[in-house]
Amino acid sequence: MRVTVFGSKQYERALLEDAARAAGHVLSHQSQHLNADTAALAARSRAVSAFVNDSLNAETLEILAKCGVKMVALRCAGFNQVDAAAAERLGIIVARVPAYSPHAVAEHTLTLALALSRKLCRAYNRIREGNFSLEGMLGTGLYGKTVGIVGTGRIGAVAASLFKGLGCKVVGYDVVPSPECLRLGMTYLALPDLLRTADIISLHCPLTPETKHLLGRREIALMKPGAMLLNTSRGGVLDAGAVIDGLKSGRIGNLGLDVYEEEADMFFEDLSGQVIQDDVFARLLTFPNVIITGHQGFFTEEALADIVRTTMANISEFEGTGKCANAIPIARKAAA
Ligand code: NAI
Repeated sequence: MRVTVFGSKQYERALLEDAARAAGHVLSHQSQHLNADTAALAARSRAVSAFVNDSLNAETLEILAKCGVKMVALRCAGFNQVDAAAAERLGIIVARVPAYSPHAVAEHTLTLALALSRKLCRAYNRIREGNFSLEGMLGTGLYGKTVGIVGTGRIGAVAASLFKGLGCKVVGYDVVPSPECLRLGMTYLALPDLLRTADIISLHCPLTPETKHLLGRREIALMKPGAMLLNTSRGGVLDAGAVIDGLKSGRIGNLGLDVYEEEADMFFEDLSGQVIQDDVFARLLTFPNVIITGHQGFFTEEALADIVRTTMANISEFEGTGKCANAIPIARKAAA
């Protein structure tokens, strides 16, 4: 099948090409994001492949449908960028990669926690300048601390087990408790109680209408003074303006972000020669107790190989049967 791959990056092209050749698919790579302005580039393809920050709203999907596109193969787990109802109406199947190494994102979460608690980025910069002073470098141990996991699905459960391995106590909040986390000894709490209890709060729930700004001003005010906040899920789960106020007041003692609500125009691009136009993001960068990574939690060799393999399998399944077991749910416009 001919497939137009949007947002195609050098780091994935060789892998995608090898997998496509083996499966008998022909790829057309487009470096642009998929949106209403670029969708027409899919002409002559029956399928397109899209990524996290592509915009699959009704307008984009209508153009894809006019081009004859019948399938969207997402190279990611989340699908908050898709208008699922519009896709259903237009007869376009949208498939995703539901699970590709939850360990990659969970390990990245732990990396952020350790780097923040031991001031690793400051140490790296200091030593390179020949400054070996320990002033301002006093760390905080993780052993014995309480970690609150918000969203105890695949990634949240792995994160919980990693923190547990460090000797942390784990508490959780989820609409559906996980048997795996219960086996780990996790105590489930209402969100306000988790926020009051946890020394470290780590977000692992999908972005849905219910979780948009799940942590805003009111919730941040409930946090323990100086608590660490980690978000490797989706930027929109946090209200960034409220987070800045929380950092200024000291309520948030450390912040680790791999995602940002308005990341779509920045992340995955080299903008090092440009002025950042997003003032909220620019303000976040000024805090000494904040580490931001550019949505790289998933980005390991192992996870990338899984993503490519599942994406091609999804396309082949659709070509062979007209269906796909990894199609996103059509009943709700949800996000995972
Ligand atoms: P999952 O579907 O296995 O787990 C999500 C959990 O969140 C489920 O247990 C679900 O019950 C819970 N949840 C749903 N609505 C909730 C609510 N209103 N309040 C509390 N909990 C709620 O998903 P998985 O694989 O663990 O991924 C979690 C999220 O991580 C994804 O949705 C995605 O946004 C993000 N992600 C980030 C990546 C990165 O590179 N930073 C890569 C992959 C995923």
